[in-house]
Amino acid sequence: MADTGFSQIETDRLVIRRFRPGDAARFSAYRSIPNVARYQSWEAPYSLAEAEAFMDEMAACHPDTEGEWFQFAVERRAEPGLIGDVAVLVPDGDPGSVEIGYSLDPAFGGQGYASEAVAAVVTYFFEARGKSEIMAWTDTRNLPSIALVERLGFTRDPASRQHTMFKGAWCDEDRYVMTPQDWAARD
Ligand SMILES: CC(C)(COP(=O)(O)OP(=O)(O)OC[C@H]1O[C@@H](n2cnc3c(N)ncnc32)[C@H](O)[C@@H]1OP(=O)(O)O)[C@@H](O)C(=O)NCCC(=O)NCCS
Repeated sequence: MADTGFSQIETDRLVIRRFRPGDAARFSAYRSIPNVARYQSWEAPYSLAEAEAFMDEMAACHPDTEGEWFQFAVERRAEPGLIGDVAVLVPDGDPGSVEIGYSLDPAFGGQGYASEAVAAVVTYFFEARGKSEIMAWTDTRNLPSIALVERLGFTRDPASRQHTMFKGAWCDEDRYVMTPQDWAARD
């Protein structure tokens, strides 16, 4: 059931919050970087108009809405301004599961911010929303993404590999899975 009351999650260094209209310029800027878009659903460049339309769309969405992607904005506590996002989908007809995706402005890469943001969203879905599985699909060529899920302790599902055409090239995708039991055991 949709979490209509969601406002934000705080971690040591981050605020994971709803998107605001003022995020559009930074969102458009990092989505326009070819390496950020490479394994994602959009094409770079990603215009300011597209970003503004996305902000409008997100304003009407809530996390934990079955069949609808929701995107969390990621900001540092010490310095305002969008640095990345975490996208989540509770699949239609499977309310106990969450698919997760993530992007970080490369200007803020290599400092653990993306891992910290994804970890906070995983904790939110297990502890506040009672989910039984969180999964991430990653292209086998996307080494930073694989490193992130492995850093957090996700397990690759060996039976999941999909050979698929993406952005004009054949590729393989693997599903990485986290359970509440494995998440709790990690602390
Ligand atoms: C996937 C992506 C978010 C990973 O970004 P990232 O900067 O590597 O990830 P993090 O912010 O968690 O940083 C991890 C790095 O910071 C280091 N680090 C420093 N301080 C850290 C801390 N406190 N905690 C964890 N890691 C820390 C880690 O050792 C790691 O370094 P390494 O890359 O040299 O091993 C980024 O590459 C990206 O946005 N890619 C494009 C979008 C995409 O393809 N998304 C995946 C598909 S959904």
